[in-house]
Amino acid sequence: MTDIDSFPSEPDQPKPAPAKILYVDDEPVNLSNFSIVFEDEFTILTASSGEEALKIFRDQKDISIVVADQRMPGMSGVELLERLRNYDPETIRIIITGYTDAADIVDAINRGYVYQYILKPWREDPLRITLQRAIDTHRLQKENRLLSRRLLQVAEEEQKRIARNLHDDFGQVLPALRYSVEKIFNSMDKLPSAVTLEFDKVNNLIERIGDISREIATALRPDILDRMGLMATMEWSIKDFSTRHPEISIEFEVIGIEKPFPPEIETTLFRIFQETFNNIDKHAQATKIEIVMTFIHPQVILTIRDNGVGFEPLKPLTNRSDGSGFGLRGMRERVIAINGTLTIRSKLGLGTIIRAELPL
Ligand SMILES: Nc1ncnc2c1ncn2[C@@H]1O[C@H](COP(=O)(O)OP(=O)(O)OP(=O)(O)O)[C@@H](O)[C@H]1O
Ligand SMILES: [Mg+2]
Repeated sequence: MTDIDSFPSEPDQPKPAPAKILYVDDEPVNLSNFSIVFEDEFTILTASSGEEALKIFRDQKDISIVVADQRMPGMSGVELLERLRNYDPETIRIIITGYTDAADIVDAINRGYVYQYILKPWREDPLRITLQRAIDTHRLQKENRLLSRRLLQVAEEEQKRIARNLHDDFGQVLPALRYSVEKIFNSMDKLPSAVTLEFDKVNNLIERIGDISREIATALRPDILDRMGLMATMEWSIKDFSTRHPEISIEFEVIGIEKPFPPEIETTLFRIFQETFNNIDKHAQATKIEIVMTFIHPQVILTIRDNGVGFEPLKPLTNRSDGSGFGLRGMRERVIAINGTLTIRSKLGLGTIIRAELPL
């Protein structure tokens, strides 16, 4: 018996509920065939049009797979899947099609709207394998997202803790140090000017340590974010940026009715804002920045546009020498972790737009 064999067995886990599959086809006979064949293995929902499918998708939670016929009156299968991707990019989208529609489907697959296509008429066994694989992919994607979300949360908590400790500890020690130095200075009379000069230097250094610790704490996580929220923090950061860059004009507009942010969304938006401004500072040579925060139920959309030098979209994500190149990648990871979408558009000589759409 190996060590592994002798491990106590895991307590019985409750069996997971069968995966939910939404099947969309305008022909009733296809719907009922699909249900009859697969209803013992999966939870099958059916819709006879794209519109009905959208409604079911909005009402139901945890649909793992959507299988749609391409040829339907009104909304085609690809159009439906494209729209569904905006609601939930994680759901696996499968299209059922004949040979004649191949061009549309290839395009949709290449643009990421469709995970796989199935040729008509479908056969039970290959379709079962496809569905099973799609369910596994869906589960892994979801687990992956939850793990990276957890990692980001832990890292954020840690940064918050270090920032707070820096603030509190230095905030106590430095005034005490300054007080002691003053006391020593005052207790001695008639000091040579060289010694007085050294005392001044020590005082300046104490002040400098205070500034540095505040800068580090702010870079880790500005305490204004937890005290006054995202909008105030953005305004404060913009003011700070403007004093350092008076040559850059900055506009900040809010559209829609402001809603409170859940902490995770607030942190994500702040990190995107922070990294985008870092990038503009380091790379853009812009003269104008426009920030728009749009509240449009059930989303918040943050757009930051600069009119700087821009960049070639794929190049920055490969090896770089002038920076770790984690900024844009990190932004994307954060957004995906909370089920949002991030769009980065850039044109050489014209500037860059960063747009984050997050659920609110
Ligand atoms: N607003 C921008 N204007 C011009 N170029 C940009 C802009 N934002 C990003 N870039 C380009 O994209 C590259 C990648 O950006 P990213 O934030 O991922 O990495 P970085 O800023 O180089 O390093 P890091 O963020 O890890 O410190 C940058 O090096 C720069 O060439
Ligand atoms: Mg960067």
